[in-house]
Amino acid sequence: MRYVRSAAALASAAAALSLAACGSADTPGATPDPAVVAEGKQIFRYDTFGDESKWTDTLRMHEVIAAAVDPLTALSVGLKVDAEALPPAVVDGIRNGSIDLASPDTTVALLELDAVVGLRGTVEVVNGTRTLTRVGVTCALCHSTVDDSFAPGIGKRLDGWPNRDLNPGAIIALSPALDAGTRSVFSSWGKGKYDPRFNLDGINGPQVIPPAYGLAGVARITTTGDGDEIAYWNRYVAVTQMGGHGSFFDARTGVDVRNGTDDLVTARLPALQAYQLTLAAPPPPAGSFDVAAAARGKIVFEGPGRCASCHSGPEFTDASLRLHPASDVVSEPEPNGVPSWASRSATKQYRTAPLRGIWQHPPYFHNGSAATLQAVVDTYNARKSLGLSAAEVADLVEYLKSL
Ligand code: HEC
Ligand code: HEC
Repeated sequence: MRYVRSAAALASAAAALSLAACGSADTPGATPDPAVVAEGKQIFRYDTFGDESKWTDTLRMHEVIAAAVDPLTALSVGLKVDAEALPPAVVDGIRNGSIDLASPDTTVALLELDAVVGLRGTVEVVNGTRTLTRVGVTCALCHSTVDDSFAPGIGKRLDGWPNRDLNPGAIIALSPALDAGTRSVFSSWGKGKYDPRFNLDGINGPQVIPPAYGLAGVARITTTGDGDEIAYWNRYVAVTQMGGHGSFFDARTGVDVRNGTDDLVTARLPALQAYQLTLAAPPPPAGSFDVAAAARGKIVFEGPGRCASCHSGPEFTDASLRLHPASDVVSEPEPNGVPSWASRSATKQYRTAPLRGIWQHPPYFHNGSAATLQAVVDTYNARKSLGLSAAEVADLVEYLKSL
């Protein structure tokens, strides 16, 4: 094992880091300012950038939630509950059944507590009744989950972990503002997928929601390497997908979106990026892979598998050197005859995916076409005619599980 990790080890490492930060004041920018990182964490978890304009005024999701989305329904479409935001009385009430998880009123109460990961609600008294009047979404909706420590779907936040249980399409499809055709596209996506270009190019080709961790040291952002830094894509999503107030323009794709006359995005981008850069890929759980087989698999990865020719360097990507044409990847053609994801992007190419924490987030490839790491390796073996034996394939899979 390369790492020895426990809560205590992490805490002392963090203490050592902050001591180092005090001592390195002469190298500005080398260590992130803890106050800026803390601000970025708040933004990542709780900032809607004013996107209530979209989710409330246009999509009217507040009406749907208050009328029909009880907590059991919310959990069934993959929404997560932050157990640390629940006061003891609520925890007891959920445990002893006195809080009704089949009532939409409970969802509204949870929103009032800021306990639904990635959703922000405003509750006001209207005609004597507590009413959900505004709702918006945050980055955490798709890029955080919880550790299930309280119950399935209820636990401590894990920022940066993709929510592969979330069915964003099914949630948006609840909006009464959509026509039947648009609703059927959203309903077709399924769990863990979202198409962040559909509303701009009209093509229905959903992407797997990727992790937002492990990006420090990765030179290009998104599957297609559209941005040189995370903030490029953060602005894209905040404005063009979440509906935040501000603007996004990219001459390469012609995407030119402005929401509102104010800008609630730009000033938030530096802190948001600083926080994201602190999110490390999670190490594999103890005992989750065969150490001896993984050591043999490393030799396959670097030798006959030819994986290291692209998955190179500490983050297992050559993104600082090159991007790859679609003909290089084994994940195309897209399922269902959908146009190439690369063709819809700014670069028209693919970034070699960084592999740290890969154990954590099946399915694999931008379109989720490989369900498991075994399927990934089988696909490379067949499509690239590598001629790996069954034993080499098995070892390579164990190595991937160890990253
Ligand atoms: C509705 C779901 C959703 C929301 C909300 C969302 N994202 Fe994403 N995010 C995605 C999808 C899907 C992709 C994959 C796009 C791609 O790689 O082309 C992505 C990609 C990314 C990436 C690129 C990761 C990489 O490997 O390079 C980052 C960083 C990111 N999102 C951060 C954010 C931030 C910050 C926010 C809030 C401003 C946000 N996202 C909101 C779905 C979402
Ligand atoms: C020609 C360059 C190249 C080679 C060689 C290569 N890869 Fe990849 N790899 C990529 C690119 C580009 C992607 C992103 C493709 C996508 O998302 O569809 C990728 C994606 C992956 C993923 C999925 C990552 C994710 O987040 O879903 C895994 C796992 C992977 N490669 C493992 C391997 C292994 C194992 C080998 C050797 C057998 C290998 N790769 C060889 C370029 C390469």
